[in-house]
Amino acid sequence: MAILDIITEGDPRLRTKANKIRRVDEGIRRLAADMYATMLDAPGVGLAAPQVGVLLRLITVEVPEDYVEEGAPGASLTLINPEVVKATGTQLEPPEGCLSIPHWIGTVPRAQRVVIKARDLDFKEVRIRAEGYLARVLQHEIDHLDGILFTDRVVDKSTLRYLPPRDDGEPSDAEVALAE
Ligand code: NI
Repeated sequence: MAILDIITEGDPRLRTKANKIRRVDEGIRRLAADMYATMLDAPGVGLAAPQVGVLLRLITVEVPEDYVEEGAPGASLTLINPEVVKATGTQLEPPEGCLSIPHWIGTVPRAQRVVIKARDLDFKEVRIRAEGYLARVLQHEIDHLDGILFTDRVVDKSTLRYLPPRDDGEPSDAEVALAE
């Protein structure tokens, strides 16, 4: 497994619609494993292939149990060609961040509950029901596949905040908590 470079805002690949994956081969499996390792290393709770410069519809998600909401289940997901097929309700909190827009957070309205249709690494169709924070992360990552960044979805621009890195070079708590 390799830790991949995460590209940042300004790179046109983050603004390009990613291509559907037609079949799972060794290259896709390796990319998924490398993305997972890269996400954990960052550290972040989600990563989309365009963020490592690969224009394919593949995302990884790792949300620990009780992460933002008490009682919320954890999730470790690798999803191919994910799409939102149902979205209901709205949520505003917590603010969102992105590994490709380091140190910035902002308030993004998202659906509270989603149903996601996708394929797993065996290319079998799966449906994921998610709510709350996990639903937020999934919507954020799927946006990346369409060239959309969270800052595009910040309605109240006054909520955009810069969180400077800590003096000791470690990521700030907020960065760790929100990086997608
Ligand atoms: Ni992101």
